[in-house]
Order: sequence, then structure tokens, then C-alpha cells
Amino acid sequence: MTPTVPIPGMSANPMSYLHTYSPGADPVTRLGWGLGIISIAVVAIISGLLLAGILRRREPATAANSDPLHVGREGKGMRWIYIGVGVSTMVLFGLALWTLTTIAAVSRPPAMAAFTVRVTGYQWWWRVRYEDRDPSRTFTTANEIHIPVGQPVRLELESGDVIHSFWIPQLGGKTDTIPGQTNVSWIQADKPGVYRGQCGEYCGMQHAHMAMLVVADPPDVFASWWAAQLKPAATPAQATTAALPPAAPLPNGQTVFLTYCAACHAVRGTDAGGIYGPDLTHLMSRHMIAAGTLSNDEAHLAEWIRHAQQIKPGTRMPDINLPERDLKAVTAFLQTLH
Ligand code: CUA
Repeated sequence: MTPTVPIPGMSANPMSYLHTYSPGADPVTRLGWGLGIISIAVVAIISGLLLAGILRRREPATAANSDPLHVGREGKGMRWIYIGVGVSTMVLFGLALWTLTTIAAVSRPPAMAAFTVRVTGYQWWWRVRYEDRDPSRTFTTANEIHIPVGQPVRLELESGDVIHSFWIPQLGGKTDTIPGQTNVSWIQADKPGVYRGQCGEYCGMQHAHMAMLVVADPPDVFASWWAAQLKPAATPAQATTAALPPAAPLPNGQTVFLTYCAACHAVRGTDAGGIYGPDLTHLMSRHMIAAGTLSNDEAHLAEWIRHAQQIKPGTRMPDINLPERDLKAVTAFLQTLH
């Protein structure tokens, strides 16, 4: 398999939830560090006191001290119990308050969400539908969510089969997608870039290959992305014909696509209207294919069409055993879908 190339704008450790870039994640990260540091301090203090207690143990029993097991209230021993219980109670109460305010802070976005994205988990990919009050401005894509930087986006999370979990570690916690239920959440990214997400709930054989990307763009770039996604595919038949070597013409890639792929995949602007798999209308605008498994280039497209079951065993995409010329033609057609 040809190697997957790194994505510009994506951090070197995209799954690290210790470095977050969202008002939905930063308070949790601070709380995590805080609880970690305080817990380490508690262990260090208790260990120190225990060690001091062991080293400064009382005199062994003698004739003058004939009752070594006597426990009583005399002396200064009880004071330490009161101080210990008092300090622990105050620390735990403070941490409980910090935890509750953190939960409240991340439960809703800091401002009204501008629009809603409906994300549906399937074995093993994500359908992404952008909703708008104006139906002519809604569209469907897959496995890559674009958002305007610095603005909250409302999420409606659903499942088409089993329980999955929507998780973008650098932008927030997990929310399960549950069949027959819509879970509402939100995301926001405060820094432009590409964030990797991963299904966070074991959902079968290819759970590990159920990733997605969130691309946070400046608002004007995001607006033009949305406008481009609304368009149908650009007259691909012409584009394919133009690339044909005149001596040995390839079959028409769109015809191959309609014959082998259109029952499951849609390309708006053509007769391909399948809803079983990802919408491919603007396939080439996405960084990855196969739900974050391979970078989106000619070699991987061809490998995926031919050997999907080797790359992602058990996936719903079958191995399509096309003649070499048909494979070339359909790969060329897919690459026109910008
Ligand atoms: Cu979907 Cu794990």
C-alpha cells in the first residue's frame, strides 16, 4: 500500500487530549491537570507523614508502660485527626465545585451556534449533513466536517446501525451516537487547522478505522467551502474525455461509475443516487478516504476500489474486480470530483 501522507495544518499528535483548542475542551484539560497535580501532592504529603510516623515510633512496651495497645483521647494525637479530616474535606469540596463548574461550562457553547451539522455513524464511516433553514442550502458529505474558526457549531449525533461515539480529542469529549436517538452536542475550534476525530466506542471489526477530520477555517474560507459543496459535480464526462489518449481511448469513467458504484454512492449532478455509502459529489475536496484510513490520491483510490476488503476487512465496500482500463477510467472520473 502506498503510504499515507501527513495533512498540513494537523498537529503531530492529533489524538492528544492534553493540548486542546476549544472552549468545549479547555476547561476539562485544566481540570485534568489540576486534579492530577493535587492527587500527586496528596500522595506525596501522606507518604511523608506516614514515613515520619514510622521513623518516630513510640517507645516499646516496658514495665512502666504495661498497656501497649491502649488507645485513648489523652495527648495531642486526636488533634491530627481533626486537622486531617478538616483539610481533606475542604480540598474535596473545592474539587467537587471545580468539577461541577467545568461540567456546566462545557455543556453549552459560549454563544449561539450559527448552524447545525447532523452526523450519523455507520459501520465504519460518518455521514455529515449540513442543515439550513433554506433547504437549497443543505447538503451531504462524509468523514470531513468543516467549521468556521471561533464559532460554535451545533451537532445532532445519530447512528444508522450500532452505538458509535463522536470524539474529536482536541476539541472536546465524547458523545455516543445511539440508534433511535438524537444526541445534541456542539464543537468549536479556536485555532485554524485540521483536527482528527475517532470513533470512541467499540463498534465492530473496523472500529479503529472509523476516523474523521474536522477542518477549522477562517469564516470567509468556510463560506466559500459551503458554497462549493452545494454545487453539483462539474460536468465530469468532458473532463474525462479530455484526458483520453486518442489512440487507445479509455472507457467513459462516469459510465463505469454508474455501472459499478452508483447503487451505493451518490454524485449530485449525475444519475448516481445511492445512499448506502458516502456521498462522493466533492470527493476530491476531502483529505482522506475510507473514513480517515488513506490519504486521498490516485493510487489510494485505485487500491481502495480493488482491495477494500484487504485494507479494511469486513467493510461494506466490496472488492470491485474491474478490468485495468475500467479501473483507470473510474479513478480518473473520481479525480474530477472537486
Ligand atoms: Cu464506530 Cu467504533
